Amino acid sequence: MTMIPLTFDKGQGLAGPMTCDEQSFRAIAKLLRDETGIHLPGDNTSLVVSRLIKHLRRLKLADFPAYVRWISDPAHVDDRNLMMTALTTNTTHFYREGYHFDIFVNVLLPRLRTAAQDGARIRLWSAGCSSGEEAYSLAATLIHHWPDAVQHDVKILATDISAECLETAERAEYPRERLEPVPDPIRTLMLSEGSPDASTVRMPKILRDLVTVRYLNFVTPWPTRGPFQAVLCRNVAIYMDDETQSRVFTGLADLLSPGGLLFIGHSERLPPTLSHRLTLIDRTTFRHN
Ligand SMILES: C[S@@+](CC[C@H](N)C(=O)[O-])C[C@H]1O[C@@H](n2cnc3c(N)ncnc32)[C@H](O)[C@@H]1O
Repeated sequence: MTMIPLTFDKGQGLAGPMTCDEQSFRAIAKLLRDETGIHLPGDNTSLVVSRLIKHLRRLKLADFPAYVRWISDPAHVDDRNLMMTALTTNTTHFYREGYHFDIFVNVLLPRLRTAAQDGARIRLWSAGCSSGEEAYSLAATLIHHWPDAVQHDVKILATDISAECLETAERAEYPRERLEPVPDPIRTLMLSEGSPDASTVRMPKILRDLVTVRYLNFVTPWPTRGPFQAVLCRNVAIYMDDETQSRVFTGLADLLSPGGLLFIGHSERLPPTLSHRLTLIDRTTFRHN
């Protein structure tokens, strides 16, 4: 007799591959869009299955219609949030699009120093920060080029919707190899406080003190007043529908101080309605007029 191994791989059930019916897919896509603004194209059922199958198993639910009933129950808000995180792209790394940090240093930093010396409040925002690498890259760049920043009223706000990512950003601990893209003097600064163990790096206190980590969802009212001298909102809006993208970028423009810079992802575009308020000054970098 031939033995057939019983495996339970990603997307596979004992009764064959798990699929997501169209009605369940539409319900999941609508929830995701309503709660995050993220648009899930109609041909993405296999992505939904591969990213959510482990949640169906954990909840011991037999199929996607049962899963949709579960997450639609207001009592199951935690599972609904886990679904949002599973369907959201959180990819990030230290010094992503490194030229933005050079532009920050060359174009904005001299003005920030002068303004801070005159008593101004300096606020920078990593909006859609994922697990915090973007915010700590900015913090380390700032401190490396302007060590006296700590003597002024300077803060970096780091926000996201993913509870898991926000926990990592708050803990500020990362696998050591994630620091590989960081240019050397700044890498040394990031490594300056020693590590919890050989394979983990904790961002030093001087950087942790600069960064405030908070939950902020772009599709609900924003609990922040600004103004900000720089906003990095990179690789966030790209997953959203056009209307949400436009609302997010317009809201960010409203919170930028005159002369402030907005950095966006290299595949993102600003809505034409902002062309009279924001001027492209370098690659995917805009100055508030
Ligand atoms: C691909 S990551 C980008 C991280 C970082 N900005 C970078 O460029 O490396 C996108 C982040 O946007 C967040 N996000 C998605 N929808 C959001 C929303 N409605 N409000 C706030 N953040 C959101 C996700 O949780 C995710 O961490």
